[in-house]
Amino acid sequence: MKTIAVAAARPYEIIIGAGLLEKAGSLARQNLGGERAAIVSDAHVAPLYAGQLGDALGAAGYAVCQYMLPAGENAKSAENFIALLEFFAGNKLSRSDLVLALGGGVVGDVAGFAAASYMRGLRLMQLPTTLLAAVDSSVGGKTAINLKAGKNLAGAFYQPHLVLSDYSMLDTLPEQYLIDGCAEVVKYAMIAEPQLLDLLAVLLKPYYEEIIARCVAIKSRLVAADEFDTGSRQLLNFGHTFGHAIETCSGFTVPHGRAVAMGMVIASRAAAARGLCGADCPARLMQTLLGLGLPINCDYGADELYQAMLLDKKRDGDTFTIVLPERIGFCRLEKVNGRQLQEYLRLGLEQNGGQ
Ligand SMILES: NC(=O)c1ccc[n+]([C@@H]2O[C@H](COP(=O)([O-])OP(=O)(O)OC[C@H]3O[C@@H](n4cnc5c(N)ncnc54)[C@H](O)[C@@H]3O)[C@@H](O)[C@H]2O)c1
Repeated sequence: MKTIAVAAARPYEIIIGAGLLEKAGSLARQNLGGERAAIVSDAHVAPLYAGQLGDALGAAGYAVCQYMLPAGENAKSAENFIALLEFFAGNKLSRSDLVLALGGGVVGDVAGFAAASYMRGLRLMQLPTTLLAAVDSSVGGKTAINLKAGKNLAGAFYQPHLVLSDYSMLDTLPEQYLIDGCAEVVKYAMIAEPQLLDLLAVLLKPYYEEIIARCVAIKSRLVAADEFDTGSRQLLNFGHTFGHAIETCSGFTVPHGRAVAMGMVIASRAAAARGLCGADCPARLMQTLLGLGLPINCDYGADELYQAMLLDKKRDGDTFTIVLPERIGFCRLEKVNGRQLQEYLRLGLEQNGGQ
């Protein structure tokens, strides 16, 4: 078991280990208090783990209620968000009560935003059940829902009060989602820790604890330095600004991790074409992604992606901040205008389909 402290304005801990679910009640009682506990999960995860979590919370004296979202990205809707708030109200949750987000990034984002909004903030425990959520979305306090106009357009910064990362739940995660999560691990390798690529190259399972701990340690450092994402935290967006555009163009049918994989390739190819990094950088990235079964080429052109990027909430007027690698393990932020961004997209997509 490993514990990582996040030095956000309101500090909290991430506890990583196998079999933590059965300790969730006592850990909640010790760390968070409260009387009522609302478990928010989805249609795939709830039947597998919500019962065990409910029992653990009940044994610790909580009055437990449970809300089940549909599974998948479409669950991040305004309708589901409002329905969840009404559920909290119907169950008479007060500000000292708990929301437990049991699921992947989708559940974490919707439940986190609802916990941030209801009575201006309930206590929030994130219990990630996907690799992506364990290494990324459960930590750092970004919560969001999608609007028809684009992804994650409504949301709040709301740090969890505790993260319990019980990686034994990854045993039931379908392989395609495990692979999606690997894209985020590759991102951490590219921005901070090349050794993670070696851990990904061998059997994943024995290294879950190590991989999750290393990734969240990187994320918690960046969050502590820049909680509201105005500077160095934006390094975590490597592959994401292009990736979000790919998700939007696909009508959210391309999963997040795969879109990030393609986005990292666009950024790296463009950086190499501009001479910011050597050709070995995109080459090693692409070799890793292909080895994991992740895509490297996307179906959309520069114009289409650019139009989608105009909706990105990270755009500041005509200025976009993109993340470009200088080498594996080190990236830098670059502010570009719309014309420069279109040029980066063109360079990044030049060899698209050439692999
Ligand atoms: N807030 C952030 O900082 C942040 C960061 C990265 C990604 N995200 C968001 O995360 C979302 C993607 O998250 P995701 O990849 O975890 O997808 P997801 O939450 O949709 O989960 C993937 C699928 O796996 C199922 N599942 C989850 N855990 C399972 C388990 N243990 N056993 C069996 N099935 C399980 C789910 O029901 C779903 O069908 C996107 O909406 C993305 O925008 C948020």
